[in-house]
Amino acid sequence: MSVALIVLAAGKGTRMQSDLPKVLHPIAHAPMLWHALRAGQVLEPEKTVVVAGHGADLVEASCKDYDPEIEIALQTEQLGTGHAVAQAREALAGFEGDALILYGDTPFIDETTLQRMTEARQTHDVVVLGFEAAVPGQYGRLVTKNETLLRIVEFKDANETERAITLCNSGVVAAKADVLFDLIDAVDNNNASGEYYLTDIVGIARERGLSATVVRCDEAETLGVNSRSELAAAEALFQTKARQALIENGVTLLAPDTVFLSWDTVIGRDAEVEQNVVFAPGVTVESGARIRAFSHLEGAHVSRGAIVGPYARLRPGAELAENTHVGNFVEIKNAVLHEGAKANHLTYIGDAEVGEKTNIGAGTITCNYDGVFKHKTTIGKQAFIGSNTMLVAPVTIGDEAMTASGSVVTEDVPDGALALGRSKQVNKPNLAQKLFAKLRAQKARKQA
Ligand code: UD1
Ligand code: MG
Repeated sequence: MSVALIVLAAGKGTRMQSDLPKVLHPIAHAPMLWHALRAGQVLEPEKTVVVAGHGADLVEASCKDYDPEIEIALQTEQLGTGHAVAQAREALAGFEGDALILYGDTPFIDETTLQRMTEARQTHDVVVLGFEAAVPGQYGRLVTKNETLLRIVEFKDANETERAITLCNSGVVAAKADVLFDLIDAVDNNNASGEYYLTDIVGIARERGLSATVVRCDEAETLGVNSRSELAAAEALFQTKARQALIENGVTLLAPDTVFLSWDTVIGRDAEVEQNVVFAPGVTVESGARIRAFSHLEGAHVSRGAIVGPYARLRPGAELAENTHVGNFVEIKNAVLHEGAKANHLTYIGDAEVGEKTNIGAGTITCNYDGVFKHKTTIGKQAFIGSNTMLVAPVTIGDEAMTASGSVVTEDVPDGALALGRSKQVNKPNLAQKLFAKLRAQKARKQA
């Protein structure tokens, strides 16, 4: 059956103490809302509706960044979770499949859990995701009889016996979309909070002779973010899980706790990552590559057999082909290093192309920016760029060409040519000795 996601994201998040809507606070460099959206992708949703309220413009812009097809339903007043879901009705008019309700501030629901929910939906009208809470606190309680879910009672409205229940409501619900909206129609706000509770649909469904059940998940999956300290805890949890997933997939992390990943980091098996490496968004590292200590990578692609670092920085558009080496204090931006090219020390390569097996000497800089425009440097294959060469772009260095150390290269260098772009050296015999003698005599006079 086709699925539509309804993602609730209208809440203010007062406890975040922030001007940014809560669901846009990042975890592993992506708005936490994106994590919920991504988990939902496993169901290949036909439609996704995000219910926005506080900071709706920002939430909408972020959703469109994630996927331009996402629809936004506005909830101008936050009158409760049931009321929030009702706002998605128009966007889902005529939709005949299942609706799954997710939360923009609940980023860790497992894909497999969502699959189990849609499976349970085959045999039950309403499926609620529940968990055994270590500390049930204020969570809504799931009142069950065997696997049948009878109703959900909010903590504030619960009696002593109900409060003693430890099976709690995550909030995630699946039901056929038209059934869901019919049930929501019957929800009132006659309760301790004066809100329209989504949770009331279970009792209403049962009164109508529909069936409801619970799918259980680990409490960690339902972790919500309400404050900065919970955000920090969520970041830590993401990192732990993402590192573990890499390790299980065959990546070597020498000191897992010191490697920081982004929500979209991809690393192939048998790749090795040393200590203190940061992966900002958009990085793919292929199998067998080696990322050495203290490197920072963003928007970069590292191919098999490449070695990066220690102390390297790959910026967006860095494309390292197989067996390339990028060493210490080397920065690569928007540049392709073709197979076997090497830049091992103290170098900036920006807006450039470096041919196969070319060697870039220490201290080389592509002078790519004239203060207004960026210009390209093209270096052929098997070239040798001498140490401390300034390549003033736009400039092209031919195949098997060389530049002399310390050259400022402002003109193209033909294939096979050597460019000498530095002043000529003059040696003055014995002048150093004379100069030393003079200076030492000066010093002696001063000390006298
Ligand atoms: C809700 C559940 C509770 C469950 C708990 C799990 C209800 C009535 N209660 O309680 O059973 O144990 O979540 O965390 O559903 N939201 C809107 N618009 C609204 C109200 C809420 O978009 O008008 C969004 C919030 O931004 C939030 C989510 O829905 O992301 C849950 O709302 P919240 O007020 O936190 O519900 P709880 O009281 O925690
Ligand atoms: Mg809550």
